[in-house]
Amino acid sequence: MSKRVLTTESGAPVADNQNSATAGVGGPILLQDQHLLEKLARFNRERIPERVVHARGSGAYGHFEVTDDVSAYTSANFLSEVGKKTELFLRFSTVADSLGGADAVRDPRGFAVKFYTEEGNYDLVGNNTPVFFIKDPIKFPDFIHSQKRDPFTGKQEADNVWDFWAHSPEATHQVTWLMGDRGIPASYRHMNGYGSHTYQWTNAQGEAFFVKYHFKTNQGIRSLSADQAAEIVGKDGNSHQTDLLQSIERGVYPSWTLYVQVMPAAEAADYRFNPFDLTKVWPHSDYPLQRVGRLVLDRNPDNVFAEVEQAAFSPNNFVPGIGPSPDKMLQGRLFAYADAHRYRLGVNHTLLPVNAPKATVANNYGRDGFMAANAQGRDAKNYEPNSFGGPVETGLPLSAPLAIHGYTGTHEAPAHTKDDDFFQAGELYRLMSEEEKQRLVANIAGGLSQVSRDDIIEKNIAHFAAADADYGKRVEEAVRALRD
Ligand code: HEM
Repeated sequence: MSKRVLTTESGAPVADNQNSATAGVGGPILLQDQHLLEKLARFNRERIPERVVHARGSGAYGHFEVTDDVSAYTSANFLSEVGKKTELFLRFSTVADSLGGADAVRDPRGFAVKFYTEEGNYDLVGNNTPVFFIKDPIKFPDFIHSQKRDPFTGKQEADNVWDFWAHSPEATHQVTWLMGDRGIPASYRHMNGYGSHTYQWTNAQGEAFFVKYHFKTNQGIRSLSADQAAEIVGKDGNSHQTDLLQSIERGVYPSWTLYVQVMPAAEAADYRFNPFDLTKVWPHSDYPLQRVGRLVLDRNPDNVFAEVEQAAFSPNNFVPGIGPSPDKMLQGRLFAYADAHRYRLGVNHTLLPVNAPKATVANNYGRDGFMAANAQGRDAKNYEPNSFGGPVETGLPLSAPLAIHGYTGTHEAPAHTKDDDFFQAGELYRLMSEEEKQRLVANIAGGLSQVSRDDIIEKNIAHFAAADADYGKRVEEAVRALRD
């Protein structure tokens, strides 16, 4: 077999890839060595800004197949009939650490799905937790600052982590979840995914429903104790990546069953919990799980940078029949992601193969910008309206309109009858077995006992006590035992 010739980026043959050109043997390097200059310059530009959160992740392709008829609730075409299959890409991630961080850590996991539907890409950008730490997006940058590396010490600080939570009683539910058994998944395959927010579905008759998505793992939930995780991190920082890659390579395809909870829109106003508060779940006894379909991952990406690092998910990529709810956190996210992509990847990130629609084509009047890699419409007019047969609007809203009343201003989220920051955290605690409670308390005390200030510790203990008196008492005793 004849060998292929090594070339420069412009395709010219390279004469020597081992020795740079010098002025005489042993002399300084010549500026005319184009191959050397190009090689070093290109190398300097291999990295792009990492995601500000969820920097570390793993991705795979697969498909979603509808198993149950949900057309009474949504007109979304990809969910329209039993047996319908849609290609997808899923990226899992940890949240707080940087790109080089370890996988087996106590942290929520991202669960971001891009469905390549015939009506455009639908991105469902969720986590492995049904709730979140905060309920207003204005707190998100402060929250993340407190959980990531401190700008002075350059490392994660227990003081910052727990100080933020001391000032955020609404985090008590999610902190209880995170410090519990599911806080360190054994792998990405062995955890559930949740849309977490409430979304709106609209059916063909224009009726609105509020829904919550639950992807239940068919591999079974498996988690790690703090000690098991520390041992794994010491041996293989990439344990989740290794597991996902090898599982798919072996043909053992992980799958999840999608269920939704469905609330008729008219019930939202009087529900006992604010259905748009991301720190709350809807108990299944109120809104049972209804099966929708099966998600399977069966293909590894060919290139991690091109397809995983450059994957861009945005919660505002909806398709007809699915839309946002008034959840303030979700509303903030509708802005944040595409903005992050324009910074991290550039204005043409939607042209990259992993992000471009696959089952339809994008037809619009956006043109040019950095890295415009294709013809973008060739001789089609780049303004609208036009007389030359260019794409036109449908006039059909994607989702049903929502009634709004009241005054503009900075408002706290409206409280419903059962709303407070602690009730559901207490319910979660009381659901746990005695052994689970012991592990939960030990995990919390392990972190909280490292905090330097008594007032921060006391405020956190008060939150656990407000959730359940026994919970607070045990955390207090465990922290005292570790600090004495
Ligand atoms: C107001 C609150 C939030 C803001 C402002 C926010 C912002 C961001 C930003 C800027 C990124 C990086 C995007 C990129 O560079 O590609 C990101 C990633 C991500 N966020 Fe959020 N986030 C918020 C809350 C949440 C919540 C509640 C969830 C889950 C329910 C979530 C799940 C994710 C996931 C899974 C990723 C990684 C997506 C990927 O794999 O590329 N975020 N977030």
